[in-house]
Amino acid sequence: MLPSTETERQLGGTKLARIVYEVETIAKRVAELGQAITAAYPDGELLVLGLLKGSFIFLSDLVRRIDRPLQVDFLVAASYGAGTVSSGDVRLLYDPETTLAGRHILLVEDIVDTGRTLNRLVELLRERRPRSLEMCALLHKHVAEHLVLEPKFVGFDAPRAFLVGYGLDHAENFRHLPYIASLT
Ligand code: IMP
Ligand code: MG
Repeated sequence: MLPSTETERQLGGTKLARIVYEVETIAKRVAELGQAITAAYPDGELLVLGLLKGSFIFLSDLVRRIDRPLQVDFLVAASYGAGTVSSGDVRLLYDPETTLAGRHILLVEDIVDTGRTLNRLVELLRERRPRSLEMCALLHKHVAEHLVLEPKFVGFDAPRAFLVGYGLDHAENFRHLPYIASLT
């Protein structure tokens, strides 16, 4: 798909290498993930925990495709800034106020790359004694050497390129693109 005038305006002159996941492709897969999650949790309280900022668009589309009662909260972890290489340095800037103990926790991530961010977060969350802890990642690059928790729900096995759009950023730009594109 060649970018329309609208997406050209969103890009403001930046050239993307290629569109990797179109709007319709993402919507179809998110609906399937919603069905799988609905089927996987027959009982108990479900807290969908979005990892900000990258998951904000995915999470908002995903929860509307889950047909059961649930609650939503967020985590803010700072990983890498303007670079495109993960440092493994993870800090929690916002911690959910709701209690995690005894509840099913579904951690929602935009993309699993080296897994360093997730490995640290999973340790922190397990200390709070949830009834279960699973992860849903829109994209999985399959480059992580060791994941303490493999995502139970994965949208797409992603190419090892740097991706932007649908919440994913490069130096805080491009999160608002409705599709996912490769920057380089
Ligand atoms: P990890 O700790 O290396 O797994 O990186 C996790 C975080 O890095 C993700 O939640 C994203 O915010 C960011 N990230 C990793 N790969 C990409 C990419 O291709 N595009 C944009 N952000 C990425
Ligand atoms: Mg980021």
